[in-house]
Amino acid sequence: GADKAALKDRIKALLAEQNAVLVAHYYVDGDLQALAEETGGYVADSLEMARFGSESDAETLVVCGVRFMGETAKILNPEKRVLMPTLKATCSLDEGCPPDAFSAFCDAHPERTVVVYANTSAEVKARSDWVVTSSIALPVVEHLHAQGEKILWAPDKHLGHYVQRMTGADILLWDGACVVHEEFKGFALDRVRRLHPDAAVLVHPESPDEVVDQADVVGSTTQLIKAVQNMANQEFIVATDEGIFWKMHQLAPDKHLIAAPTAGEGATCESCAHCPWMAMNALQNLEQVLRSHDQEILIDEPIRRRAVVPIQRMLDFAR
Ligand code: 13P
Ligand code: SF4
Repeated sequence: GADKAALKDRIKALLAEQNAVLVAHYYVDGDLQALAEETGGYVADSLEMARFGSESDAETLVVCGVRFMGETAKILNPEKRVLMPTLKATCSLDEGCPPDAFSAFCDAHPERTVVVYANTSAEVKARSDWVVTSSIALPVVEHLHAQGEKILWAPDKHLGHYVQRMTGADILLWDGACVVHEEFKGFALDRVRRLHPDAAVLVHPESPDEVVDQADVVGSTTQLIKAVQNMANQEFIVATDEGIFWKMHQLAPDKHLIAAPTAGEGATCESCAHCPWMAMNALQNLEQVLRSHDQEILIDEPIRRRAVVPIQRMLDFAR
């Protein structure tokens, strides 16, 4: 209502005063996505977020998403101030891959090229040869496999296993998972598909094999949104965080979107998939950080200098 409109107006004024721009992920609240678009910011998947942050000439980037997204922005743009609504917004993949244990894993397999998913800490990236996001994991690993390289992959075992199956590459997997996508169950999805036989099934590759195997399209958030726009189907079953529906509705208002079930019981979505850390981003803490600047991403320069190499390698490859 009126309160929310006033809050949004105050945030807009703060952004303009501070030459700050919002970079938001599709999984955050629709109000934040709308605000990013209304104020010259951007809503995107994690690869595009990284690219937009580097291309913007704003002095301050305000990253609405999870911590690794803010860290990637800072690693690429050390001269910019990078703020987040809360630094507590982490990710189960990042948390499940502590730098020391990961480094020891790499040390034990020195013959392997280290490919890490973007959903990791700056320290883990600093230990890697390549960083990839879900939108570019397949072509990067195909490229490495074609050169005869053996791969060490971390942290998401589901995405890693999908990439292994698709490319045939020799991949040693770290044992990590996304707590949100891991909740999608093959048998429950199968039941929903029977109820909607004409629906196309869209799956984020952080999901388990039994879910990925039922997909018509497997891809990053941006790739799944494009599928809704471009495919002839009228109905889609979507296996990823429910935040993505905001953009899908905006770009394809006539299409019927069905959330893939996370619960084993029942054929419909009882508790939709939603990342608890993405959900920590809100208009209220966004206003607060623009006033206090206390949730600022800072990264030790030696780590930053190492982490930027594999991230830049990804951006150059993606060009
Ligand atoms: P995308 O790069 O596909 O946006 O994925 C990021 C993420 O955290 C998915 O859970
Ligand atoms: Fe991490 Fe999963 Fe949340 Fe994405 S949805 S940020 S992978 S926990």
